[in-house]
Amino acid sequence: MPTPLSIIMRKKKIDVKKYAEAKRYWNNVVAAEVIYEPKAATGIKEIDESIAWLAQSKGPILDFGCGNGRLLFASLLSGASSITGIDIASRAVNIADAVAVTHHLEDKSRFITGGIDELGSLTPHSFDGAILSNIIDNLYPEDAAALVRYMNNLLTPGARLLVKLNPFLEKTHIDNHPEYRLMSENFYKESSGLFLYNISDALLVSMLKTFTLEAQRLVHFTQYNVSNRLFHFTKD
Ligand SMILES: C[S@@+](CC[C@H](N)C(=O)[O-])C[C@H]1O[C@@H](n2cnc3c(N)ncnc32)[C@H](O)[C@@H]1O
Repeated sequence: MPTPLSIIMRKKKIDVKKYAEAKRYWNNVVAAEVIYEPKAATGIKEIDESIAWLAQSKGPILDFGCGNGRLLFASLLSGASSITGIDIASRAVNIADAVAVTHHLEDKSRFITGGIDELGSLTPHSFDGAILSNIIDNLYPEDAAALVRYMNNLLTPGARLLVKLNPFLEKTHIDNHPEYRLMSENFYKESSGLFLYNISDALLVSMLKTFTLEAQRLVHFTQYNVSNRLFHFTKD
C-alpha cells in the first residue's frame, strides 16, 4: 500500500526542522561566495586524483551535499557525462546553477535544493559515480543510513563512490570538549549548530557493506591545519 501523502509531508517537515540550523549556517557561509570558473582541477593533489578516478567511469555523477558544486564541475570537466547535485542550502544551489549557465554547462548539469528525500525523486541505477564529501558525518545517524540505502539504489553495479570524512575524534578528546554535546552514540551537536556523527574507518566500511573499499588516504588542508579522510569504494 502506498504511504499516505499526509505521512510523507509530516516526514518532510521533520527533516526540514532537524536541519534548520545547518541550513541557516551553510546559507550564511555561502553568502560570501561568488560565481566561479569551473575547473577540472581543484589544486589539491589528493582531491584531484580522487576526482580523476571518479570521472574515469565517464558516466553520470551524483553529489549529495554538493555545496556550490565545485567537485561536480571538476568531475564533469574530467570526463563525467553529466552531473547532479543536491544541497539543503538554496544559496549554494543557486551559485552552482549560475556557474552552469554562465559557462554553458547547463545541458549536462542539474542542481536540486533539498535534503535526503530528494534522492527519492531520482531514477534508480542511473549513476556511475557519486560524491559524499563531508556530508555523511554531518547527518543524524538514521539519515546517514538512509543515504547509504539511496546510494545502493541509485548507483549501477561497479559504480565508483568517493567519500570524504572529517577526522575521527577520540572519545576522551570529544567528551571533555565544551564544543560538542553528546546526543546519542557517536553523535554530537556542535556549538555552531552543526552535527558531528563521529564515524570511524571501520564504522564507515560496515555502513557501506555492499561496496568494496579500493583505496584510502589522508588529505591535509594547510590553511585549516586539518586532515580529512578520503575513501574510494566500488559498488558490488
Ligand atoms: C561541509 S559542507 C561540504 C560541501 C561540499 N560537499 C564540499 O565538500 O565542498 C556540507 C554541505 O552539506 C549540506 N548539507 C548539510 N546537511 C544537509 C542535509 N540534511 N541535506 C542536504 N545537504 C545538507 C550543507 O548545506 C553544505 O553545503
